[in-house]
Amino acid sequence: MPHGGRLVNRFVASDKKLDGMFTVEVSGDLRNDIENIADGVFSPLEGFIGEEDFQSIVKSGRLKNGLAWTVPIVLDVDEHAAAKMKDAGQVALAAGGERFAILNVEQVYTFDRLACAKAVYQTDDIQHPGVDKMVNKMKSHLVGGKIDVVKRIAQSPLRKYRKAPEQTRAEMASKGWKTVVGFQTRNVPHVAHEMLQKAALNLFDGLFVNPLIGKKKQGDFKDEVILSAYETLINNYYPKDRAMFVTLHTEMRYAGPKEAIHHAIMRKNFGCSHFIVGRDHAGVGSYYHPFAAHEIFKNYPDLGIEPVFFPAFYYCKKCLGYANEKNCPHGQEFREELSGTKMRKMVSSGEIPAAHMMRPEVASIIVSFKEPFV
Ligand code: ADX
Repeated sequence: MPHGGRLVNRFVASDKKLDGMFTVEVSGDLRNDIENIADGVFSPLEGFIGEEDFQSIVKSGRLKNGLAWTVPIVLDVDEHAAAKMKDAGQVALAAGGERFAILNVEQVYTFDRLACAKAVYQTDDIQHPGVDKMVNKMKSHLVGGKIDVVKRIAQSPLRKYRKAPEQTRAEMASKGWKTVVGFQTRNVPHVAHEMLQKAALNLFDGLFVNPLIGKKKQGDFKDEVILSAYETLINNYYPKDRAMFVTLHTEMRYAGPKEAIHHAIMRKNFGCSHFIVGRDHAGVGSYYHPFAAHEIFKNYPDLGIEPVFFPAFYYCKKCLGYANEKNCPHGQEFREELSGTKMRKMVSSGEIPAAHMMRPEVASIIVSFKEPFV
């Protein structure tokens, strides 16, 4: 069942009213999230959250009605625009000059950036990319209200694998999958990623591979690299009838545990029954304990999607394969740790990761990009 019990749909037939309306320009990243709201990826949200939900998320990681929700989905504007929007009641939203949606303004409010950053990111260190954005870049006022989307984002090569929850749910049903495990990633695939997914695939009917395409921090892999690398991996190494490949278009927030809950909720809306959470899920630097994203699920027994926890997977030179502390007795000296950070370092220094760390087909795709990093 979707989060909150019903898949939201906020698309409306073309609306002529848009033309004469006071218009607020939003970023391409925000337009992605507005389309996510309209498609039900963020069910039960029907628009940008109002003040009570905002405060409730910050205070307790839940909406005011008690439903789990950890990342505020908000529209920030400056004071001048806020006043205009309040007066107008209904405004058009545009991106790149194209009007695409209506926002029904319900509430305009201010917020404490630092308190919000601390609650979501569990730090107020300005070096954290999420904190930096919230404290230094977000505008002073938030506008809450339901949205109605008139125009979808145009198709493009990066959006080739985007699907709405209604479609993924129908496909899962037609495949007869009763249990589906979701996998979030913001990286090109290394073999430890693949082993996590395949370990889960032993237990469930289907695998929903769902890389995040959208704004990422400097130094992360570019979207087109992630997409090509995954396309190659799936075509060469995954059983066609057991894996579904769909991209999720939203921004990475690097909020560690809070984002793990948000990631799980989105995959619940896509139709997953289970969700993989490994080491340092959605982490950045050393802000979060590597398994803080496991711990937080204890606070959400009512989430409605089951987390599947994995310890750190490493390559063990004695086991001659992927192992972890639960199943391997060999010492540190035999271990090769794998992480997105390590892969990024190797690729940027011109080193091609060995075949036991990265599939050769994937490595050759990555090195074919002149500048693979954001
Ligand atoms: S994330 O920011 O999207 O979480 P990444 O794409 O690296 O980063 O990770 C995707 C998923 O794989 C996350 O659940 C993460 O915890 C898990 N993961 C990545 N590498 C490992 C590893 N070596 N061992 C265990 N889990 C891992």
